[in-house]
Amino acid sequence: MIGEALTLQGLEKRYDASFAVNGISLAIRAGEFLSILGPSGSGKTTLLTMIAGFETPNSGHIMIGRRDITYLAPNRRNIGMVFQRYALFPHLTVAANIGFPLRMRRMSKDFIRRKVDAALAQVHLDGYGDRYPHQLSGGQQQRVAVARAIVFEPPVLLMDEPLGALDKKLREALQMEVKGLQQRLGATVVYVTHDQEEALTMSDRVAVVAEGRLAQVGSPLELYRSPASAFVGDFIGRMNFIDAEYLGHSNGGHMVRPRGGNVITMEAASDEASLFAALQAVSIAARPERLSLAPHGRDRGAILTGTIDAIVFAGSFFLFFVRTPNSDGRLLQIQMPVGHGSSLLRQGDLVDILPEASALRLFSKTEA
Ligand SMILES: Nc1ncnc2c1ncn2[C@@H]1O[C@H](COP(=O)(O)OP(=O)(O)O)[C@@H](O)[C@H]1O
Ligand SMILES: [Mg+2]
Repeated sequence: MIGEALTLQGLEKRYDASFAVNGISLAIRAGEFLSILGPSGSGKTTLLTMIAGFETPNSGHIMIGRRDITYLAPNRRNIGMVFQRYALFPHLTVAANIGFPLRMRRMSKDFIRRKVDAALAQVHLDGYGDRYPHQLSGGQQQRVAVARAIVFEPPVLLMDEPLGALDKKLREALQMEVKGLQQRLGATVVYVTHDQEEALTMSDRVAVVAEGRLAQVGSPLELYRSPASAFVGDFIGRMNFIDAEYLGHSNGGHMVRPRGGNVITMEAASDEASLFAALQAVSIAARPERLSLAPHGRDRGAILTGTIDAIVFAGSFFLFFVRTPNSDGRLLQIQMPVGHGSSLLRQGDLVDILPEASALRLFSKTEA
């Protein structure tokens, strides 16, 4: 199986007056594992069903390689699909379920038997062909669904929250299986999930969607390090938001005043930052692991001073919850490795919050 590129051009889908998908363009590379990540209702399933051919877009185009498939019937697109609910045929054996797409294509019995056995081996279910779906666990049923999706060796595989119904441990094990399978087969995979951890661990790139639009596309590291908006920063990983006032731009830095803190100059801003006007309300965003705490007054460069409200020990690090005059009672989260002075800090201590170099990003104020 060789993956093929999948190109989405200006896709739109309206239900009545409202857009489920509102102008999505995306070039997915041959053999790429791309996740569509977004909250419930953001248009992920609608996008996938248009690629599969079960819905027709109101405008835009879908290409596999150079073929325009926008209006092609689903069974002629050569796309494998796995849904959250396994949708196996309950009255058919595992082998008959997996062989179904090949019977539809009128392949010979012999050919089908060989392909079904190979697909069973790929999902580590050798010898399960004669069972019925109800004799399998949820995880095994979902593996059968994956085997059925890959048995005709489609160059493109679509998965819509395929592991969403499984418990956490099984989900994590199957994430690695699906990822390994995709790498062995070289298939192009579009994987829908609302789980940011799942998207980050499995994907070459992640497309974050919100309200039917693309919020950002990038590698997991790019999204984590350089979120393009407060929404993406908040949706992926933990993020602190500090209310501040934008003062202006000088010597290549952005001057901001955190509410209840001192004026600081920031090097790393964000794409939005060049548009800010003086005295505009902004949010300073910082990951917990890129802030640290020191006893008040010891070091220079604090963005805020506060008191430690709670300390959580998490094995390899401490998570500190710090109350400051900022952020309307929301506590800031600061993660520090065990040692490095973190063990000496106590609940109730007055502490300065210190950012690592280029740890801070600047966004327009949101109701995060
Ligand atoms: N068949 C439909 N008829 C009307 N509205 C729909 C239909 N399918 C989806 N929607 C609406 O489109 C939006 C996106 O839905 P969906 O694509 O299922 O989101 P997600 O998969 O991200 O949860 C939602 O507001 C949903 O209510
Ligand atoms: Mg959905």
